[in-house]
Amino acid sequence: MKKITIAIDGFSSTGKSTLAKQLANHLGYVYVDSGAMYRAVTLFAMQNGYIGTDFFDKQTLINSLHYIKLHFQFNGDLGFAEMYLNDVNVEKEIRSIEVSSFVSKVAEVSEVRLKLVEQQQEMGKKRGIVMDGRDIGTVVFPNAELKVFMTASPETRAQRRFDELQAKGDTVTYDEVFKNVQERDYIDTHRADSPLIKAADAIEIDNSELSKAAQFDKVLELVQKASKL
Ligand code: CDP
Ligand code: CDP
Repeated sequence: MKKITIAIDGFSSTGKSTLAKQLANHLGYVYVDSGAMYRAVTLFAMQNGYIGTDFFDKQTLINSLHYIKLHFQFNGDLGFAEMYLNDVNVEKEIRSIEVSSFVSKVAEVSEVRLKLVEQQQEMGKKRGIVMDGRDIGTVVFPNAELKVFMTASPETRAQRRFDELQAKGDTVTYDEVFKNVQERDYIDTHRADSPLIKAADAIEIDNSELSKAAQFDKVLELVQKASKL
């Protein structure tokens, strides 16, 4: 089967990374979580005091972008690569609700997007990649052979993310998670640069009522079709 590029976009907590990891493991593809990169830049901005509850010094972040080195690294048999910021593993920190509460503001900055998109396109030069995010099918890989756009109701998404955070021992409340999901949906779909929209040629999947196994089977069929074209 021909190796292809698979772009998975959609709203927060729709199961994009779950699906992307399932596909990458099954197909022997490289999986890239583009959201992890925006989260790592956000963590950098937080650590350096460029962003907080009521301030965001965009210009200083932009001036500091060349100090930010991002890479993914496989550790053991996790099945996915972990995110490193300036050679430090930040996989756990970037998933916190604090990072989630600032990340969409950082992702609005065009200079940040330019730097990350360039790196993402470089990683995608070899076929056999599945990348998830918000602008993968529209901006990063507009020629991807398969584009999937994931949706699910905000309540389903918030509940799934809340369960996940609770299982990790996070003390966040359901209401905080629900509010964060709604805020990010709004900013991500309304920003001027690369807003979250479904690419014209993307296939939409609402997984509110789909199990992980069912969504995987459905998309694997699409991959098989796209790989034969
Ligand atoms: O996992 P979840 O869907 O909650 O978020 P994520 O994929 O980790 O992305 C975090 C945030 O990064 C999103 O809410 C967007 O603001 C931003 N992002 C983006 O702008 N473009 C991407 N390709 C990926 C993420
Ligand atoms: O990457 P994204 O933010 O879109 O979502 P995710 O991290 O893959 O999934 C969010 C949560 O929903 C995880 O806990 C998944 O296990 C769960 N999920 C689910 O229960 N059923 C699905 N069909 C897909 C994801």
